[in-house]
Amino acid sequence: MSQTKFYGVLAYPAKHSLSPAIHNAAFKALGLEMQFDYFEIPENELVKFMNYVKQEPVSGLAVSLPYKEVVMNYINEIDADALKIGAVNTVVNKDGILYGYNTDWIGVLGALKEVVEDIKGKKIVVIGAGGAARAVIYAALKEEAEVAIYNRTAEKAHKLADYFGKLFKVMVGSGSLEDMLKDSGEILINTTSSWIINKNAKLEELMPEDYVGKFKIMMDIVYKPLVTPLIEAARKRGLGTVTGDKMFLYQAAEQFKLWTGKKAPLEVMGAVLVKKCR
Ligand code: ATR
Repeated sequence: MSQTKFYGVLAYPAKHSLSPAIHNAAFKALGLEMQFDYFEIPENELVKFMNYVKQEPVSGLAVSLPYKEVVMNYINEIDADALKIGAVNTVVNKDGILYGYNTDWIGVLGALKEVVEDIKGKKIVVIGAGGAARAVIYAALKEEAEVAIYNRTAEKAHKLADYFGKLFKVMVGSGSLEDMLKDSGEILINTTSSWIINKNAKLEELMPEDYVGKFKIMMDIVYKPLVTPLIEAARKRGLGTVTGDKMFLYQAAEQFKLWTGKKAPLEVMGAVLVKKCR
């Protein structure tokens, strides 16, 4: 009888996800009897699907949009970091009991650590106040960085600042981008979906090009395109850059560890990603 264990990405839509390619390559590299599929589940079938998962044909899930929050209703035990972020992107199924984790914030730190050893005390400006921003802000605050949040809709930035200000004993600012940049930030992280929504979006939609020079490091969490207008502008000025594939890679590596108990083959996974993001 086959001992193959099944995993998959729960999302809607799901077919564009890079998770199957990266995880199947990692399973294969370590010779594991594990297979990773797509679970493209419409919202009205989510209850049925999660009940099916609990019956154990599926040993684990990567959870993507739009289910990172709602999936928490089906999890038996949610880890402390995921609870504070308010989203689960990884599910481990142990004998029908579902455990929920968030590896996105670990992905943020892994990616940043490629260019900056320690972010403690560093000033980080986060652009955007959606779901993706939550993991980024959480990661930065947990490492004791100083965070400023800027968002097109100011009200959402203030809400997030209030929320995280209650969890951490550090300053979380929010306001105009210009004010945030007065004393110059060190790291800027774009978490908005502007390049995803509009493939021809220009940097100016997000921020004036002049502001780029006020930073030392620019990170974008978008990986398609790999070189976003923000990354392009930063490279032109010789700044340090972190592309979105890195966050994806490190969050996937942590998922792999949660499912297998083994260290992820980072090089194999990274090579798949670079090929897919081209
Ligand atoms: P996600 O879960 O991927 O973060 P989201 O919750 O829909 O997605 O949030 C998208 C973020 O991108 C928001 O901060 C949004 O700004 P608003 O709150 O003002 O809507 C931001 N965003 C999207 N398109 C943008 C654009 N063209 N310029 C600036 N910000 C944009």
